[in-house]
Amino acid sequence: MRIMVLGSGAREHALAWKLAQGRSVERVYAGPGNAGTAEVSENLPVVDPMRFDTVKEACREKGIDCVLVGPEAPLAAGVVDALRAEGIPAIGPDRSAARLEASKAFSKTFLVRHGIPTAEAATFTDEAGFRAHLAANRGRRLVVKKSGLAAGKGVLVSDNPAELSSFGAAILREDAVLVEECLEGWEVSVFGLSDGITHLSLPPCTDFKRARDGDQGPNTGGMGSICPVPPADAPFMARVETEIVCPVYEALSREGLAYPGVLYFGLMATASGPKVLEFNVRFGDPETQVLLPMIDADLGAIVGAMANGGLSVLASARAGRPWAGPGGALGVVIASRGYPEKSEKGVPVEPIAVTRSGEAMVFHASTSRDSGGRIVTGGGRCFTVVGIGDDLAEAGRRAYAAVPGVRFDGCWCRRDIGARFTGPVEKGRS
Ligand code: AMP
Ligand code: GLY
Repeated sequence: MRIMVLGSGAREHALAWKLAQGRSVERVYAGPGNAGTAEVSENLPVVDPMRFDTVKEACREKGIDCVLVGPEAPLAAGVVDALRAEGIPAIGPDRSAARLEASKAFSKTFLVRHGIPTAEAATFTDEAGFRAHLAANRGRRLVVKKSGLAAGKGVLVSDNPAELSSFGAAILREDAVLVEECLEGWEVSVFGLSDGITHLSLPPCTDFKRARDGDQGPNTGGMGSICPVPPADAPFMARVETEIVCPVYEALSREGLAYPGVLYFGLMATASGPKVLEFNVRFGDPETQVLLPMIDADLGAIVGAMANGGLSVLASARAGRPWAGPGGALGVVIASRGYPEKSEKGVPVEPIAVTRSGEAMVFHASTSRDSGGRIVTGGGRCFTVVGIGDDLAEAGRRAYAAVPGVRFDGCWCRRDIGARFTGPVEKGRS
């Protein structure tokens, strides 16, 4: 099988890396990929994920059998519909099912309609109604969200009415706004894989969304990630499967929204049980970078089964067995100066000094090579350094030991990824 991974982030680097290891894949392409994917697959720099003609052309030219779509924007814009119309199998939802992620108003009504546990919410398209709702709920901690895609930056959790009001008013100029009750608890992400009929859940993981240590500062796309999540033990995960994952897949089938692809359940474990915060219709970034090293399986075979409706065979072969792999993986994102408020790109990266020992790995995001062959950054979240160990604490030590091996002007990272579960990491570059 010839697979193209669509996108250029660290998630796509991790996907290309994992696919390239399996026996069922003849060739892996990355469209357009980055300087990291070039080391494990063949980059197709002419591919622009938002220009479907370039994607289709690359598929024809390279005889690609299946496209695995990384980012949300092309899914929301209908890349899967465009590929299927040409007879090219694609892993991901069509435009209609992509609304589970691209419209929080849509996903909230879907959840409520099917009685799936989620935060109570009201949706507004006009400022008067929104402000009246805030006034009626003065004193409560609330969550204001942009309905559409916002790269992880469309949510404000606050008890300050003025702050909530101006955040929501800015969104209302271009989109609908959701106001939700603020759920208390701990967060966990579960990734479901489906061929449109059967589903299979991956081990629990979580990302760390805030920009600064101690979960302070603005929300980002994710500054780090861990897999597994210690409190998400087997009884908890069984409850997630029964109360959330299975009912959601059943509801998707009933509504004709089931698709071959990935569904990410962003959950809050509250005192009254797990509740859905959000859906993504794709792999998460930086969750994928820790999830894939934890899975002892041929990703190409899984992708093939998702594309061909053969996941039940794979699922029954695995039945009851956990995904055997290392004990823990911990990812630290290295970002450019000023992220998330601004982003510097084109900054030269010193030669990366992380040996491929199996203890740590570096996944690139949007890097490229300049005319002199040097790696230069692509801005925002530039790399994910992943440590792997017998447990999360060892994974964390190995990740942070490897972080100084990735250097460029203005680079920074959080120093406390996973520390809540592993204890503090040693002081170092901040
Ligand atoms: P979302 O994009 O909906 O996942 O929101 C991003 C982040 O905002 C989540 O990962 C949570 O940390 C936080 N968040 C979103 N909705 C809620 C909620 N109803 N209660 C508490 N925190 C929330
Ligand atoms: N880390 C969350 C996301 O991929 O959107």
